[in-house]
Amino acid sequence: MKNVMLIGASGSTSREIIPRLLEQDDVKLTLFLRRASPIQSDRVDVVEGDATRLTDLTRAIRGQEIVISTMGGLDLDAKTANIVRAMKEAGARHLVVISAGGIYDELPEPFNAWDKGMVGQYRPINLKTAEVAEQSALTYTVLRPVWLTSKPTEEFQLTRKGETYKGTETSRASIGRFVADVVRNPDHYANQNLGISQPDTDGDRPAAYR
Ligand SMILES: NC(=O)c1ccc[n+]([C@@H]2O[C@H](COP(=O)([O-])OP(=O)(O)OC[C@H]3O[C@@H](n4cnc5c(N)ncnc54)[C@H](OP(=O)(O)O)[C@@H]3O)[C@@H](O)[C@H]2O)c1
Repeated sequence: MKNVMLIGASGSTSREIIPRLLEQDDVKLTLFLRRASPIQSDRVDVVEGDATRLTDLTRAIRGQEIVISTMGGLDLDAKTANIVRAMKEAGARHLVVISAGGIYDELPEPFNAWDKGMVGQYRPINLKTAEVAEQSALTYTVLRPVWLTSKPTEEFQLTRKGETYKGTETSRASIGRFVADVVRNPDHYANQNLGISQPDTDGDRPAAYR
């Protein structure tokens, strides 16, 4: 079995990741969340914990191969650093973490200026989060979505670090599909930092704000 842990497991993006991971019969999933609720599946364990506490993470990560975090917040860089420390202690290999598009000013104008005005205060934290993963000496996959939607589309386009971003929105369902692809083929997306967005959403802002 492939042991996979999902941190932030009660969040909206995690809800799109969980069923897509469980499509893979060889995945044994551990959900790490602050307030646990019972789940009926012999392939899912639930661990209650807080990612600001290193001891909670170290206990939960023991035996895991791939650790996925969908957490956000103004302390995301510190929480990600905790995950890295716990993974190293526990011998876990591959970290998948969500940062955000815009951290390298890589969004095309005028979308970049609009995004910076709306959520620019998060950019330094999301940049630091990406750096923590990249400098961890673990295998990493950093994702940079933009304006998340609950649209059902799983379609996504990827841009590499250093490339100009494409699109103005990202569906959570597409992150679910992408993360499931990473777990299926971890080597395929090893040590990559990728913009992920919905095709054909180019413009000066996401559709909901036009
Ligand atoms: N919203 C956007 O448009 C946008 C754009 C770009 C990037 N992002 C990033 O996308 C990611 C996912 O977004 P989302 O909408 O799925 O977020 P979400 O629904 O708020 O889910 C995040 C989850 O993280 C959990 N969490 C936070 N701090 C924690 C801690 N200390 N210990 C354990 N769990 C903790 C929260 O748990 P509780 O349920 O206990 O609060 C929550 O369930 C975030 O990283 C966000 O920064 C979002």
